[in-house]
Amino acid sequence: MCGIVGYIGDRKAQNLLISGLKRLEYRGYDSAGIATLSSTGQLTCLREKGKVAQLAALQVTNEVDDSIGIGHTRWATHGTPSIVNAHPHTVGRITLVHNGIIENYQDLKQILESKGYSFKSDTDTEVLTALIDSLYKDDVSLLDAVLGSLQLVVGAYGIAVLASNKPNHIVAARSGSPLIIGLGDEETFIASDASALVGHTNQAIYLKEGEIAVCRAGTVELYDIAANPITPAVETIESDMQAIQKDGYDHFLLKEIHEQPEALRSTLAGRLRSGSLYAHLGGINMSDTELREIRNIIVVGCGTANYAGQLAAYLIEQFTEDVSIQVEIASEFRYRSFHIPENSVALIVSQSGETADTLACLTELKRRGVRCLGIVNAVGSTITREVDGGVYVHVGPEISVASTKAFTSQVAAMILFGLMIAQAKGTSTQELSTFINDLNDLPTEIEKLITDLEPDIKTLAKSYAGYDHALYFGRNTLFPIALEGALKLKEISYIQAEAYAAGELKHGPIALVDDSFFEVALIADNWLYEKSKSNLIEVNARGGHVIAITDSKKHIQAETIVRVSTSLTQLTPLLFNVVLQLFAYYVSLERGNDVDQPRNLAKSVTVE
Ligand code: F6R
Repeated sequence: MCGIVGYIGDRKAQNLLISGLKRLEYRGYDSAGIATLSSTGQLTCLREKGKVAQLAALQVTNEVDDSIGIGHTRWATHGTPSIVNAHPHTVGRITLVHNGIIENYQDLKQILESKGYSFKSDTDTEVLTALIDSLYKDDVSLLDAVLGSLQLVVGAYGIAVLASNKPNHIVAARSGSPLIIGLGDEETFIASDASALVGHTNQAIYLKEGEIAVCRAGTVELYDIAANPITPAVETIESDMQAIQKDGYDHFLLKEIHEQPEALRSTLAGRLRSGSLYAHLGGINMSDTELREIRNIIVVGCGTANYAGQLAAYLIEQFTEDVSIQVEIASEFRYRSFHIPENSVALIVSQSGETADTLACLTELKRRGVRCLGIVNAVGSTITREVDGGVYVHVGPEISVASTKAFTSQVAAMILFGLMIAQAKGTSTQELSTFINDLNDLPTEIEKLITDLEPDIKTLAKSYAGYDHALYFGRNTLFPIALEGALKLKEISYIQAEAYAAGELKHGPIALVDDSFFEVALIADNWLYEKSKSNLIEVNARGGHVIAITDSKKHIQAETIVRVSTSLTQLTPLLFNVVLQLFAYYVSLERGNDVDQPRNLAKSVTVE
């Protein structure tokens, strides 16, 4: 979603802002802009629709040596993607970039119009810019004008603000949208995401909700919303350059699919053990007595994180007999009058740790006294700061918009949590050996699968890339994989992909089967094999173009068959998922799409 960068120091701001925005490209955006100030207060503002590369081209003919500035990648919320709606916005002496949504902007706009302000764009951001300008007077500091404005605003924001007559500081503020201040040698950086700071500094202040920073070259003053000074806590950030490079792969997506074995090893390191104490999660902050008391797990997440929860639920409920598991879509759950069973614990699942709907559920669950644990990747993200404990999945930066390696490790981390509960309840290692052995073997099995099947999947993708519709189906643990596989295909290939529990086909979706569709049948070699095969036969009988993916060696009839060869028993769904990730990748490539930054999507969904 939208990204913010800012710089003040003695280097050329334009170059640093543009390279910072490039680092944020993976979040998804549709326009970009930068504004810099000269020491005499001359503003140079460049904005472009499309990619940061187009903005960089604009810089060539508008180059300035200014050493203070702010920049933005915009993912349209209010108003279409266009130059006039792109940030930074300037009104009077104020220039501003903004992530988030100002909910009462229409009311504020009317008030400002009655004071003589007029607006060029359709954005809530321009209204906020005018609001700050209206309060910014010769005897009112920029900090006070920003503070005064934010008290009138309802909504979410991360902002960076320049005043043309004060080319020596930037004011940054956060409420509901993350901002990080990086401290360098005589220079200060502002970013909505730590990846924009990598290579410049590893010393950072994560703004907390309601905090405002006055950033000068190399120094930062911090205030709360009531203007009380706060002592900043400077932290060391851990991202490294290597982790955000493509490493010879054509796309981040392919790199991240291939990284899954290593990512899983990091998720499991020190947590999956041998002997009677088979699982250990240091960060959940729960005693064995508290774990024993759990009777209900509420898993909350959006999109892929939700599907990871759905798969984990199928798996965990097999070995935690007196624990029920409910998996909720965060954007729905937050508005329901839900009842919380006794002895519940919530798992808040999010790669970015910033998803607005997931965060809202966390706030509500905490308000109602539920212990909340994060299953999160992004270190230091908002969810990790708000939860009572949790598990970092440690998969490293996930840059491609479509989530891959995070899914696999989220499932593994949730199984580990299930194992912790089982262990506390006295279940022996022997009873859980299939899960423990599978977790141990999973990284190598994924490596083997990629080596064995990637060339075939690439060829297969060519044959099916011409279709515009697809139907995925599977039973039991392969139902969430059908959902996730179809999501992956639709988001990067733009093929309409429906996913169903295979037993549901006869209740409606089988009517879709015709020559404009292909079908993906997921068939596990387990006690449901014959039932899944019957579903496949029913689709074949109606002229389906079926790709059957199976770990069975038995004879099966389908237009195309992909055989997964594995020694796993419980976690084969995660192997099927890798097949579907690779399939989606190669179909997208074949269709000539922007694999890493698919249209209309954002990596981190920080608005509702
Ligand atoms: C799909 C995808 C999204 C995210 C969802 C939640 O490939 O990436 O569906 O899974 O937006 O994001 P996080 O996990 O950051 O909360």
